[in-house]
Amino acid sequence: MTSNTQQSAVTVLGLGPMGRALAGAFLAAGVRTTVWNRTPGKERELVERGAAVARSPEEAAGASPLTVICVVNYDAVDAVVRRPEVADALKGRTLVNLTADTPDRARDTAAWAGDHGIGYLDGAIMTPTPTIGTPAGVFLHSGPEELYRAHRPTLDALGGTHTHLGADVGRAAAYDIALLDIFWTAMAGYAHALAVARAEGISARELAPFAQGIGAILPPLFEEGAADADSGTYSGEGNPITSAVSSMAHIVHTSEAHGIDASVMRAAEGLARRVIGQGHGDDGFLRVTELLNPSA
Ligand SMILES: NC(=O)c1ccc[n+]([C@@H]2O[C@H](COP(=O)([O-])OP(=O)(O)OC[C@H]3O[C@@H](n4cnc5c(N)ncnc54)[C@H](OP(=O)(O)O)[C@@H]3O)[C@@H](O)[C@H]2O)c1
Repeated sequence: MTSNTQQSAVTVLGLGPMGRALAGAFLAAGVRTTVWNRTPGKERELVERGAAVARSPEEAAGASPLTVICVVNYDAVDAVVRRPEVADALKGRTLVNLTADTPDRARDTAAWAGDHGIGYLDGAIMTPTPTIGTPAGVFLHSGPEELYRAHRPTLDALGGTHTHLGADVGRAAAYDIALLDIFWTAMAGYAHALAVARAEGISARELAPFAQGIGAILPPLFEEGAADADSGTYSGEGNPITSAVSSMAHIVHTSEAHGIDASVMRAAEGLARRVIGQGHGDDGFLRVTELLNPSA
């Protein structure tokens, strides 16, 4: 516990699994914490640990210089904060929105906050609830840097690493979208792999150590891919897209022979074939990036 967190106070709006984890971490760090949730009852354990409960979001917002909101999406954020009494309570204070949604919604919420004299930072949490309050948590932030600096000591109570990505308030959500794009497409591939493996009599347990090996190939590829995408040169040395597309076709044929939907892999194969059709068959798979969004 630092002297800064001892002296600070925070309000947490939203007590789903993540909101409860955030409030719990603030309490564990000795930050005076006020909580509110639309549906009562989720605050019980936090109250036992010393949290104060507000009867309304405006009462909660008025209790602390810093309010953190973490609900399902920005429609829910709007339902909680875009009401005159809540806006009045937040006026002259700071709202940190750790709810996940789109960059445009983040910018729109920042504009609303600015119109109402509310300091606004947007953020994204990139790790699951058990990491909150531990060194493993990853938090991304965007918005006015001086506001971020002012509240960083309180946010540090959440543990983990905090990165300020710049003044464009949509930037944290933009990173979140890009990173979750990697995550969900990988999870779709994993779910499909489990279905195909099961059809071939391979259990998920039997596959697991080899699946981990495939996963471990990816981190170095993210480094190489960054150099390729930022320079616009996609070397296919070692694995040209003509070879990759053949491997993808085997996956499609095997799954469809088992009656398993191969639409995700068909989509990837289709993109690869279009790149080959453009005359880039000797390049690597990431040439697809240029097909999807040609650099200027
Ligand atoms: N859980 C994770 O591991 C994780 C990891 C990274 C990021 N996140 C992000 O953190 C945010 C919160 O996630 P979560 O895990 O706590 O669960 P969640 O199911 O996404 O959100 C539940 C919270 O949203 C509130 N809510 C939903 N609709 C509402 C409305 N119309 N008005 C007011 N409140 C409303 C719920 O209130 P009620 O209790 O009244 O329904 C509850 O407090 C999400 O944006 C999620 O993407 C979560």
